Formats: sequence, C-alpha cells, structure tokens
Amino acid sequence: MFYPEEEDMAVQKIIIAIDGYSSCGKSTTAKHVAANLGYGYIDTGAMYRAVTLYFLEHSITFTNPKEVEKALQNIVISFHHNSKTNENETFLNGVNVEKEIRKMYISDQVSEVSAIAEVRHDMVAQQQKMGKRKGIVMDGRDIGTRVFPEAELKIFMTADLNLRAYRRQQELLAKKQMVNLEEIINNLLHRDHIDTTRKESPLVQAEDSFLIDTSYMTVDEQVEMVVNLAQTRMLSNAVLD
Ligand code: DC
Repeated sequence: MFYPEEEDMAVQKIIIAIDGYSSCGKSTTAKHVAANLGYGYIDTGAMYRAVTLYFLEHSITFTNPKEVEKALQNIVISFHHNSKTNENETFLNGVNVEKEIRKMYISDQVSEVSAIAEVRHDMVAQQQKMGKRKGIVMDGRDIGTRVFPEAELKIFMTADLNLRAYRRQQELLAKKQMVNLEEIINNLLHRDHIDTTRKESPLVQAEDSFLIDTSYMTVDEQVEMVVNLAQTRMLSNAVLD
C-alpha cells in the first residue's frame, strides 16, 4: 500500500457531531475541541433556548402551528464572539440573550418547544447552512442523526444522572443562580423523557457514533479523546483520498 508523505496529504476539515443527554459535558467538550482544532463551534441547544425565550416573551401558543410558523419568521439567531470572555454568545434579533437563555424558566420549557415540528425544521435548516463549509463542531441531540447524518465523526455522550445534576448545579452557582439538586434532577429527567420520546428526530445514539461516558472523566480527558478521534479520522480520510 502507498502511504503519501504527510506534507502531501490534503487534510480536509470535517464535521464533528456531539450528541447526548443534557449536562453530560457536551458544550464544554465541544468548545475546547473546536479551539484545539481551529474549528467553529455551534451550540444548537442555545438556538432552541433562544426560540423558547421569544415564544415566552411574545406569548406564543406552542400548540398553534400557524402562530408558531409566523413567530419563526420573526426570529433571527446569531452567535458573536466575545473577546473578553473568549466565548461565543447567543443573540436573538440583535440582542445578547446569552445569560437569559441559561435560566431555569427557559430550561423548564425548552424541551416542549424543541419538540415542535415547525421549530425543528427551521433550526435544522439553519444548522445545515452553518456547517456547510465543514470545520465545525456542533453539539445537540440530533446532529449525527438528522442535521449531519454524513458527519465524519460522531460522538454520543452520557453520564450518571446525579453527577450530571451536580455539574449543572455548579454551573448555575457560578452564574449566581441557586437551584436545589432535586429541582435540577427533575428537570433533567423531564427533558431526557421529552428529548428521547418526541416524534420529530428524537435523541438516539447514531449507530456509527462513539459512546463516551463522562461520569468519571475530566474535561481534559474528554477533549483529548475527541481530538484524537478527529485527528485519526482526518488522517484516514487523507490517506484514502
Ligand atoms: O443542550 P441544551 O441543554 O442547552 O439544550 C436545550 C434543549 O434543546 C434540550 O432539552 C433539547 C433541545 N435540543 C434539541 O432538541 N436538539 C438539539 N439539537 C439541541 C437541543
């Protein structure tokens, strides 16, 4: 077999899809992997959260498809990099909503909103556009199964429920939001249930994905594992080309 010299290989950018349950470390891992590879990062959960915020602010009836479709036409979601925090922030119709969409009242409603077919069609189309040029890490629930079924690398993350709740509580505390563990566990169970049982692209593990249980892994270990898998995939693509 002929192996080309490394400098002769065209290392092409790939799409990395990270799916899994809420609060398993998807976003943190995805952000670091993207920074490590010089890729873009898209938090698709933030998009569903922004839609939820809009629906609540405008008292949209979730069960009325016409009202939902009309509202979607008035929603523009974008991400902007904040050079002070070095984080991407979510904007809804030009307004920075990054802090607001992480609050508990949004977490309590977002799974209902993200189960609406019209909402999913709209978000999936936008996400497909964002990843068209590859070189992207996207995290969510249906990235490897619905948004980019042809993604070169698919990761499915899971973790112990109590540890997920504890991590979420720490994240909220860091943002000065005090929420008790029981409320977080109930919210996670509720969202897991809706996310896995909804009709429209439910959360399922893609057959060709790598399963990572992050219960006893550090963030560095998670990032290293995904970066290694990505580099192996890019290298094997280059050899096969
Ligand atoms: O990742 P997150 O917890 O911020 O996501 C918020 C909600 O959005 C989650 O409960 C399920 C939904 N979601 C989805 O249905 N599909 C995605 N691709 C991303 C999130």
